[in-house]
Amino acid sequence: MSALEGKNVILGITGGIAAYKSAFLTRLLVKEGADVKVIMTPNAKEFITALTLATLSKNIVYSEFFNSQNGDWNSHVDLGLWADLMIIAPATASTMGKMVNGIADNLLVTSYLSARCPVYIAPAMDLDMYKHQSTKNNIEILKSYGNFIIEPPTGELASGLDGKGRMEEPENIINIINNSLSVSQNYKGKNVLITAGPTFEKIDPVRFIGNYSSGKMGYAIAEEIAKQGAKVTLISGPTSLDVINKNINVINIESADQMYKASVKHFKNTDIAIMVAAVADFTPINKADNKIKREKDNLKIELQPTKDIAAELGKQKNNNQIIVGFALETQDETKNAASKLKRKNLDFIVLNSLNDIGSGFKTDTNKITIIDKNNKITKFGLKSKTDVAVDIVNYLSKKI
Ligand code: CTP
Repeated sequence: MSALEGKNVILGITGGIAAYKSAFLTRLLVKEGADVKVIMTPNAKEFITALTLATLSKNIVYSEFFNSQNGDWNSHVDLGLWADLMIIAPATASTMGKMVNGIADNLLVTSYLSARCPVYIAPAMDLDMYKHQSTKNNIEILKSYGNFIIEPPTGELASGLDGKGRMEEPENIINIINNSLSVSQNYKGKNVLITAGPTFEKIDPVRFIGNYSSGKMGYAIAEEIAKQGAKVTLISGPTSLDVINKNINVINIESADQMYKASVKHFKNTDIAIMVAAVADFTPINKADNKIKREKDNLKIELQPTKDIAAELGKQKNNNQIIVGFALETQDETKNAASKLKRKNLDFIVLNSLNDIGSGFKTDTNKITIIDKNNKITKFGLKSKTDVAVDIVNYLSKKI
């Protein structure tokens, strides 16, 4: 059975030449068993008629806010709430810009803002427009809002130029959506605890010792494992990230000690703990109550070790609990990671080496190796942190 069967789908069509492909997309969606309602932007109607889309979707086509002849109006709220998923194909640069900024001057953008369902966006435009920094920024922002971008493939464009920008073919759009909707629920009923981000160790009211961890890896794992059915408690140091999945409960902390206390508190009900955080190993012994004044002499801050959260959970764990650690190493990587796994009583350790280009704290990519308790080593290629998260979550689901 198609994952689209019985789903209420809004297909948003915007004003680009690829709008003709949306007729095929409508037909395929109906064939998959979806109930399709089309919303066109005013410019889309220059490229394809509402009559074609109404006939193919077997529903009336929406475009205007108001039907002045009969004195009623189309409610974007009702449309947004009706939808199980929304597809915007083709999505022009202009519509994406409006979606990013909440410029709600047509029924499609207002419905998008009202929708609570997953949204798939298939951009289509000329290659230079696609390459423009503002388009790139908008796509990144749309992703960060939780939207799913169906990237344009490379090929011949309506302008006669050749490059990236043409809308993905309707058959492929259907496959991509079907695959993403039928993600397996390997972690249904599992409680997962994840630590992520850096910790900040206070020196005085305005200063701290921190590190470069962005939290991206831990947040990506939280999203992926929640997508696969887990209930996630995400204990996060200071980051600029937001979570999308409503099954992720974020507990914000600042210091290693606060992360330790929150982790120990939640560990009892945890099936799997994944320790991604870059926890400070040392913290100032004295935290000044007032801002430390500049003086001529050198300033000495005395530090003491923090508690090792992973090692503490490793001590407390029972036979049904799994702990996954992370290790960022710069030398003797495999040996160091394997000894950390033993020392902290972990079940798996995910190693990333700062010697691998594209790995580490500040990058969007990562290259990992997973070592298990029996010293079995599995290596993965350089990927985006989102794809690395999928690898880790899928690897664990096979092993547990
Ligand atoms: N970790 C932790 N609590 C700490 C320090 C580390 O839970 N106080 C966890 C990290 O989240 C990671 C693993 O332990 O999963 C390894 O972290 P890492 O900093 O590489 O190890 P350390 O034990 O601090 O060893 P070192 O800094 O000496 O390499």
